[in-house]
Amino acid sequence: MSDSSAVVTPLQSATPKLGRLVVVGLGLIGGSFAKGLRELGLFQEVVGVDLDAESRRLAVELGVVDRCETDLAVACQGAAVIQMAVPILAMEKLLGELAKLDLGDAVVTDVGSAKGNVVRAARLAFADRSVRFVPGHPIAGSEQSGVEAANIELFRRHKVVLTPSEQSDDAALALIDSLWRELGADVEHMAVEHHDQVLAATSHLPHLLAFTLVDSLAKRSENLEIFRYAAGGFRDFTRIAGSDPVMWHDIFLANREAVLRTLDVFRDDLDALRDAVDAGDGHQLLGVFTRARVAREHFGKILARRAYVDAMHSNDLIFLANPGGKLSGRIRVPGDKSISHRSIMLGSLAEGVTEVEGFLEGEDALATIQAFRDMGVVIEGPHHGRVTVHGVGLRGLKAPPGPIYLGNSGTSMRLLSGLLAAQSFDTTLTGDASLSKRPMNRVAKPLRAMGAIIETGPEGRPPLTVRAGGILGGMTYEMPMASAQVKSCMLLAGLYAAGSTTVIEPAPTRDHTERMLRGFGYPVTVEGNSATVESGHKLIGTHIEVPADISSAAFFLVAGSIAENSELLLEHVGVNPTRTGVIDILRLMGGDITLENEREVGGEPVADIRVRSAKLKGINIPEDLVPLAIDEFPVLFIAASVAEGRTVLRGAEELRVKESDRIQVMADGLITLGVKAEPTPDGIIIEGGSIGGGEVWAHGDHRIAMAFSVASLRATAPIRIHDCANVATSFPNFLALSAQVGLRVSEEGKA
Ligand code: S3P
Repeated sequence: MSDSSAVVTPLQSATPKLGRLVVVGLGLIGGSFAKGLRELGLFQEVVGVDLDAESRRLAVELGVVDRCETDLAVACQGAAVIQMAVPILAMEKLLGELAKLDLGDAVVTDVGSAKGNVVRAARLAFADRSVRFVPGHPIAGSEQSGVEAANIELFRRHKVVLTPSEQSDDAALALIDSLWRELGADVEHMAVEHHDQVLAATSHLPHLLAFTLVDSLAKRSENLEIFRYAAGGFRDFTRIAGSDPVMWHDIFLANREAVLRTLDVFRDDLDALRDAVDAGDGHQLLGVFTRARVAREHFGKILARRAYVDAMHSNDLIFLANPGGKLSGRIRVPGDKSISHRSIMLGSLAEGVTEVEGFLEGEDALATIQAFRDMGVVIEGPHHGRVTVHGVGLRGLKAPPGPIYLGNSGTSMRLLSGLLAAQSFDTTLTGDASLSKRPMNRVAKPLRAMGAIIETGPEGRPPLTVRAGGILGGMTYEMPMASAQVKSCMLLAGLYAAGSTTVIEPAPTRDHTERMLRGFGYPVTVEGNSATVESGHKLIGTHIEVPADISSAAFFLVAGSIAENSELLLEHVGVNPTRTGVIDILRLMGGDITLENEREVGGEPVADIRVRSAKLKGINIPEDLVPLAIDEFPVLFIAASVAEGRTVLRGAEELRVKESDRIQVMADGLITLGVKAEPTPDGIIIEGGSIGGGEVWAHGDHRIAMAFSVASLRATAPIRIHDCANVATSFPNFLALSAQVGLRVSEEGKA
């Protein structure tokens, strides 16, 4: 049986009652299981078995069971289900006793927190007698113990892991699965070995460490005194040393092999840390601590999201956009996403330290940071947009411990594939559901032509595996589509390829890679529509100031244009001419947009942008502006929807392979809101008019979610926008800034 969550229909209350449930061992877990199922009325009777007379008496008195038996054989005669809830080391003996009985059709299950030993003992006890045994482990507990603490809510929204084998009886498995689900648990199925290894790492090792730390300090009598000075850190780290010693002694004996494996790995890491302290190797210490901190924050988010999902019973983040609003004020939108990604990539490959300011603390750019941390680069921050990258040089990356997960970020995956093509280790790049659908052949094919060894999933989709051993030779590549990601990927591979690498683009695309390479002291030759790099040079750490992202500013450029009597100032926005198509298009439509205080910061042009309300008119969007406004079309479609007359977009088939199919998804939403929109293979035709209210879907695409938020300014009724969580990939404070300037958009349920 492989790791998977089987889909099992929970028992319906209308199901005829099962016969007898026998729970052997009336502690907290056994008692809670018995009491919960008894209250659900799924069994004709619930019978308890326990060696302790007081526990038996209490179990009946507290309604945990219908009655108790002292004799196991009598209790189990004709039972439907037998739950073994005894301490883990007592399982073997209990299984031996059960093996002597005629269990008929009974399904036997257990709650032991290590599974290998129980499964082995069951195999020995029952030999080849067919017994329907389903091993289980509820990952739930409480500081309290004993049957008096039995609680029917104990398992609600907790994981229960079942570890069936290939031979397990399907009906028995389905029954036990359903019983736990009836108690509110999230049931998963896992191989025995996997379960024991996971638990050894996440539960058993931390307990071992807490017990030893406290003992090691306490047993030196002079140290007893130091507890008086111990504060929060000691208390938090050692809380679990207060757990039941007998139970934990049992667990370590039962899960010996897996615990030893985990402990050996940990001991090596601890030794390495000891050496680092000994050698005064601050770099190594910083590496471990920064990686650990991010991992801990990530875990915290998983817990928070679980709580959030629990509260909402869904993971659909909905924006509620109320109609109307007059905009005013001055704001600085977050840092440029494209430049933020590149600052980490080039900073990591540079020699020396790179200081970044204005970094976008959105999920996409954070995924790039995590990727380089996984490859051994020490990166401090981000903290208020500041990041310090301790570059390792072009040859200094190390093999990551596992696949690199890039979330929603296409830029991370495509650019990384280029710079990984010449490394001496294999790397697998994966992503979320949206990224997993995006085309990667556009980078895999030309990289292969350079000599890289790359595998993709079916139809050229992720995951992407970039193998060691590719020997790259420079080439001239004429891109079939205008893509800055493909261009950057090839230039990054070119840093490692013999000779020179030239990329020719069919139309100008953003040139941040070229500019930033030069900022790091790496020569790049740009002639007309071609860019060339040669290997053999190096990057030197530098200082990077990331301007505000014009793609995020775009939402407010359209908002300020379409809202009545409005004026906004957007500060310190990057106005690189390869990115300003949105300004040109809005001006062609009649927009009132002016650039002020134009300057150059770290090789990138920057300005403050003023936008005032304007009466927009529909236009034929010039095709040469398409690559220069490629990310801004969702919100430009909103401008077109309220403009006077028809807007036609052509030559933009690339929009169909962005975070979503932006032509179809926008057309669907606009039509729902009463706009006349007609998608075409490479664009859209929109008849300007008015926007109504309704329910639209962002399909996990951040820019669609924000575009429909802006639409509310001219909508006649509220717009509910589903699936907005990915706004955090590029614009984490979108709702706060929107509210600050006068948009009426909020997260549903939090208004
Ligand atoms: C980007 C390039 C563009 C753009 C993306 C970021 C980059 O993608 O849509 O959001 O940072 O290089 P394409 O290269 O696919 O056009």
